[in-house]
Amino acid sequence: MCGIVGYVGSQSALEVVMAGLKRLEYRGYDSAGVAVLADGGMAAAKRAGKLVNLEKELVDRPLPTGSTGIGHTRWATHGAPNDANAHPHLDNAGRVAVVHNGIIENFAMLRDELQERGHELSSETDTEVVAHLLAEAFSSCADLAEAMRLVCRRLEGAFTLVAVHADEPDVVVGARRNSPLVVGVGEGEAFLASDVAAFIAHTRSAVELGQDQVVELRRDGVTVTGFDGRPAEVRSYNVDWDAAAAEKGGYDYFMLKEIAEQPRAVADTLLGRIDANGSLTLDEVRISASELREMDKVVIVACGTAFHAGMIAKYAIEHWTRIPCEVELASEFRYRDPILDAQTLVIAISQSGETMDTLMALRHAREQGSNVLAICNTNGSTIPRESDAVLYTHAGPEVAVASTKAFLTQLVACYLVALYLGQVRGTKWGDEIRAVIRDLSQIGGAVERVLETMEPVRELARSLADKNTVLFLGRHVGYPVALEGALKLKELAYMHAEGFAAGELKHGPIALIDEDLPVVVVVPSPRGRSVLHDKIVSNIQEIRARGARTIVIAEEGDEAVVPYADHLVRIPVTPTLLQPLVATVPLQVFACELATARGNEVDQPRNLAKSVTVE
Ligand code: AGP
Repeated sequence: MCGIVGYVGSQSALEVVMAGLKRLEYRGYDSAGVAVLADGGMAAAKRAGKLVNLEKELVDRPLPTGSTGIGHTRWATHGAPNDANAHPHLDNAGRVAVVHNGIIENFAMLRDELQERGHELSSETDTEVVAHLLAEAFSSCADLAEAMRLVCRRLEGAFTLVAVHADEPDVVVGARRNSPLVVGVGEGEAFLASDVAAFIAHTRSAVELGQDQVVELRRDGVTVTGFDGRPAEVRSYNVDWDAAAAEKGGYDYFMLKEIAEQPRAVADTLLGRIDANGSLTLDEVRISASELREMDKVVIVACGTAFHAGMIAKYAIEHWTRIPCEVELASEFRYRDPILDAQTLVIAISQSGETMDTLMALRHAREQGSNVLAICNTNGSTIPRESDAVLYTHAGPEVAVASTKAFLTQLVACYLVALYLGQVRGTKWGDEIRAVIRDLSQIGGAVERVLETMEPVRELARSLADKNTVLFLGRHVGYPVALEGALKLKELAYMHAEGFAAGELKHGPIALIDEDLPVVVVVPSPRGRSVLHDKIVSNIQEIRARGARTIVIAEEGDEAVVPYADHLVRIPVTPTLLQPLVATVPLQVFACELATARGNEVDQPRNLAKSVTVE
């Protein structure tokens, strides 16, 4: 998820674009760059790191003044966050500049073609191929917009592209597929941006671009077509947010925005990892298939929410690969003198990639000769840099301290690693892997459906705002979901919450059950391990008989729970091992709403930091 800005008008393009990038920096901050058209040519500057590094570069080496330009703040998916990989990317002649948000799945094939035709590419990014393709297309098309349409018809994946060409100094062209792009229309000027926050200071008149559309910006207005060149219908609207709200996409908190982004984040984490015949291509996992076949144990190390993701991964890894899998709190791991060797695969899960407990755990594992695979959301951070291999989640920057979309994408990445292990070790047949991937590709839609039915959960949360404690129960993969639901409530509502394996109730915790005590129960599918389902229905009866207020998370069609549920939250039918991807979402919404009802600062809860870089 990157920040993109384009401008054409009578103001200084550099000033407008840089101010817009500042507003979008939350969308990505590992590098930034701008390109300006002036004096019949084009000038560009880009720097790794935060926007301030680019600002310093522009003071030391100013760009010429022009009234057409584009800019970008990057959240890296392909290629480390360095100067060479920063956007904009240019063609060899330096006449075309392009910025991009998304993932071009077929870039490797396009890159090979371009190099065979003599193009010299200098970055590791997927984006750079577009600059060269546009330069080629421009020479045979009427204009840049036509060239963009031709190129877009060749691209696969999710992308927002914005480009300029030195031969068209008063034009900016944009295109979108599956990635946001919005147009701002001013008096004698026009804007393109990833979201309205970038231009709301100049105009509130916006035009939302639809799927597979190309927009041509000129001072006197905009023209929108499909990728096929046919004129397109677009929706104009007036933006009634202030700039701060615009950064949150109109939501009150980043956490709410990030919960809503989960369907896209899940889909993006799958992008580029499944080949044409449905097999996994995790080429970024730089541990060879032969080494993976040698593994006789997997150890997952992580903290907090990432640890819960690891607990769920354990079920998938052991079920699909038959390799023993341990899951360890990173802060405990190295102090228990773990048994590690070259046949142990250690998986370090971390959203920030900077959690010191997890970093120290992976360092210990590498000292013991184990291979370390990082699952991380932050490209180029310390944990992936110190690992043997990395599988990046593509959740985009997660600003809220309470982790939501990162958690779901960590689960997707863990499922992919488990399937990949099964694929290289031959414990899963190709058709079985393709079946799970088909299920995973439908999860985004399932999460969308859950999000559309959350109003009763919000009402319930508000009604419980004065409670002192909430318990969470689950079995099998629902047990880590219960732990995650409890953690969300603790860190957001500052109230006591505890997650249990439902089977543990009779070994002590049932003594906690009191009159009207809220207990959330995550119910496994009756279609998977029905014995588990029957047992947890008994658990619900036991706690209800002792006065608990039962809040039951159960899949559509599960009627056995209805008589014992004071509150019933339905989730879509999903395969047993994938249920956490949908069952967690109501618990995120519940905790966020209850914290809001208590007047808490949701994005920055007290005492907490987004990345815990101390042990
Ligand atoms: C979860 O909501 C918390 N923010 C916290 O538990 C977090 O998951 C943990 O600190 C690990 O962070 P990491 O994923 O960046 O390593």
